[in-house]
Amino acid sequence: MKRTKIADLFADASALIGQEVCVKGWVRTHRGNKYVQFVALNDGSTIKNIQIVFDMNAFTDEQLKPLTTGAACHVDGLLVESQGKGQTIEIQAKALEIYGTADPEAYPLQKKGHSLEFLREIAHLRPRTNTFSAVLRVRSALAFAIHSYFQQRGFYYLNTPLITASDCEGAGAMFQVTTMDLNNIPRTEEGAVDYSTDFFGKPTALTVSGQLEGELGATALGAIYTFGPTFRAENSNTPRHLAEFWMIEPEVAFIDINENMDLAEDFLKHCIRYALDNCRDDIEFLSEHYDKNLIGRLESVVNEEFVRLTYTEGIRILEESGHKFEFPVRWGVDLQSEHERFLVEKHFKRPVILTGYPKEIKAFYMKLNDDGKTVRAMDVLFPAIGEIIGGSEREESYEKLMGRIEELDIPMKDMWWYLDTRRFGTVPHSGFGLGFERLVLFVTGMTNIRDVIPFPRTPKSAEF
Ligand code: 4AD
Ligand code: MG
Repeated sequence: MKRTKIADLFADASALIGQEVCVKGWVRTHRGNKYVQFVALNDGSTIKNIQIVFDMNAFTDEQLKPLTTGAACHVDGLLVESQGKGQTIEIQAKALEIYGTADPEAYPLQKKGHSLEFLREIAHLRPRTNTFSAVLRVRSALAFAIHSYFQQRGFYYLNTPLITASDCEGAGAMFQVTTMDLNNIPRTEEGAVDYSTDFFGKPTALTVSGQLEGELGATALGAIYTFGPTFRAENSNTPRHLAEFWMIEPEVAFIDINENMDLAEDFLKHCIRYALDNCRDDIEFLSEHYDKNLIGRLESVVNEEFVRLTYTEGIRILEESGHKFEFPVRWGVDLQSEHERFLVEKHFKRPVILTGYPKEIKAFYMKLNDDGKTVRAMDVLFPAIGEIIGGSEREESYEKLMGRIEELDIPMKDMWWYLDTRRFGTVPHSGFGLGFERLVLFVTGMTNIRDVIPFPRTPKSAEF
């Protein structure tokens, strides 16, 4: 018999009741007595388990004994309306095949709830829990929503390199890529590392952002987006930073900072609405177990207009708030998470897009405002998250961009190809980067970024 996924059993229940079905999955619980036994089976297609009812006239104890939590099996049986409360349908088992047992003494995921910290230590098994299967299904749905948003609007998916010789954000937090023997590093006569003998013949690293190559795509195809892994060797052990995370970076020719903000707001709302419409069971489960306000918060972000505000205005609000911040605020400082969250959660009670940051705290490629002090940067700040998107209008003037590159002493010989966009047919253009895990954090209501990516990479941790 052909297997039916458990999600489809529930979705098509009215048509399938009274029919023989075949299900395959992993045992969540097993209970009962010598007359009747119940197994809750889950196959990952939905948060819901299907209850399998074993009439002990037809099965022996010996046969059912291996069905402990975590064991995998295949059941054929009759789909019926459930007698018991708590479920709508169940299967009256006719045949059982056991694929793999899971020794209860050794299998770490027993019935009781485990802490998220413990589950991080067994990240290879945690997708089998309700929480992680829900998070991973939402994550997958959001990835689909992102691709379909851009594809429906004429953006082309551009794959930018993961190995690069340029530091897009200029923060120097890059992981080196080399095939050199670290125990025997080749040196030049002056004693410096001789990269000419390395694989690429020069220093290379994992990319922190695909933006620079994204700009090459946008100034040819009009509108592109990237969606890929990025790497940052910053030693930030926070619930919002990963050393390896996924970023979505749209880049669009002929749009300015205001249209860029429109795009970011519309895009975020689309993704969250998609999850609310398509991941209802999972979001309800997460809301019930982790964050009672989750659905309300998601709906309010979808329905409310984001506040747009300059950095200078934002600093004024923070200064006048009288609130005692751990990091003091004054014009010129980079905003900390506590400042961002004060503006969003306490002051406006809505997402905020901050623009016009001091040029000193932003990257070299951002367009300078007429005041000569601020740049057309934009950060989208979200409740519970802080910065979820960072972006800007780009400096399209060759002279001004060169000015910034010289001011910041960025090595020119690595940048010649980027500068060519400004030498040949330069246009106004803008883009931004969305941290995928920050979006998944927001939509699932989880509070630690390590719990929304299957296998997190953080300082001193690269297990699995
Ligand atoms: O603000 P960032 O550094 O911007 C850029 O990389 C630009 N090149 C984007 C662009 O304009 N195309 O990073 C963008 C977003 C942040 O807003 C945040 O959501 C996320 O990426 N992010 C991280 N997420 C997880 N772990 C980290 N270490 C992150 N660093 C940034
Ligand atoms: Mg940023």
